[in-house]
Amino acid sequence: MNFLPLIEAKRDGQVLEAAQIQQAVAAYTAGQIPDYQMAAFLMAVFFRGLDGGETRALTLAMRDSGEVLKFPPDPRPIVDKHSTGGVGDKVSLVLAPLLACLGFRVPMISGRGLGITGGTLDKLESIPGLTTQLAPDRLIAQTQKIGVAMGGQTANMIPADKLLYALRDVTATVPSIPLITASILSKKLAEGLDALIMEVKFGSAAFMTSRDQARDLAWSIVSLAIECGVMTRALLVDMSAPHGRAAGNWLEVREAIHCLEGTGPADVQTLVTECAASLLVQTGKSHGLAAARQTVAACLASGAPRRKWDELITAQGADLDAFQAKLQLDHTAPVVRECFAEADGFVVRCDARIIGEIVRDLGGGRMTKASVIQPDVGVDALLKPGEPVRSGEVLGRIHATTLEQAESACVRLHAAFTIAAQPPFEHPLIVETL
Ligand code: URA
Repeated sequence: MNFLPLIEAKRDGQVLEAAQIQQAVAAYTAGQIPDYQMAAFLMAVFFRGLDGGETRALTLAMRDSGEVLKFPPDPRPIVDKHSTGGVGDKVSLVLAPLLACLGFRVPMISGRGLGITGGTLDKLESIPGLTTQLAPDRLIAQTQKIGVAMGGQTANMIPADKLLYALRDVTATVPSIPLITASILSKKLAEGLDALIMEVKFGSAAFMTSRDQARDLAWSIVSLAIECGVMTRALLVDMSAPHGRAAGNWLEVREAIHCLEGTGPADVQTLVTECAASLLVQTGKSHGLAAARQTVAACLASGAPRRKWDELITAQGADLDAFQAKLQLDHTAPVVRECFAEADGFVVRCDARIIGEIVRDLGGGRMTKASVIQPDVGVDALLKPGEPVRSGEVLGRIHATTLEQAESACVRLHAAFTIAAQPPFEHPLIVETL
């Protein structure tokens, strides 16, 4: 295929036909378009955008670049949640086993870290022995048997997103509404879902920094998903401070376990509850959010989701004893450094963007396609906006590979915080529901 005319057309702001987009996705997936040409095309899309028809064509072409899951009839609805990306965002890890215990089937297909945001696959792979490379048959069989599977794009499932996702990550072409819509919905439509809940983030660490942009992204995803037959809702979620107190792959898995055990941070617990409650209402399993929230709380309190987690990771090859042993350790990175507050007052800012950059630069994220993730680095014990602090108290802990890295991360961690005499105005975490 001669891809050059499509790059030129998009560069000049023309609208492409569905057939041209399908051909391009198929050719790129087959290795017939070089990365440098696709990178140029993605940048043209970033600046020129795609209209509704082009976005739909791209989404469906990406979905159809591999197999689409076909589940046997079963009374359990097939549901999922996806986030547009954040820092410290471990909701999926808690939600997936919880939803299975609430009587859903959850064939969750996630992504890796993008830019400074973390990715569920990278987090899961910090668990000894666990694989996220599940072939479609295995994904279906596991979901049917235990209610949940957590995998990634593979050569068989949404291979186009696997390739485009990695390329966008290193070519500054992530924050584009049509590209995010197509990336997310190609995965979700390939799962054969009945219902989807989206967490669309805005704020310093989100791809859409303003609430208005996030709302546009949410509408783009919700309207296309509904058009494609998936009952979808979206929560607009503030991502200006990290969610929870930990950011970094293994550190987030550990915090997710605390959430499953009822001792997690309140903001993560709220997001988990709202996502699960929404899906209960969307699928008619609960009549109203108040009742749904009670159902979710009772399920978490029963301990069943924590047990389901062990079942889930064991089914995906994890060494459960090694996992439990790792959980007992205070830290698994070679160096840990506490960073101390230098003034009394209240935390009025803990900038998620800076924290995300610190984690990435410690090795928790990627700079190039060839970057190898360091699973155990990151930041934990973070103070949160609104909390009082005294000079000399711990603002956060750096988990690093070398002392030098830890020292420089600590300097940057100070820059992420603002401490003031007065507490900040309280901002809601979930600002809108679509
Ligand atoms: N999550 C995805 O799966 N894709 C994106 O492009 C952004 C977030």
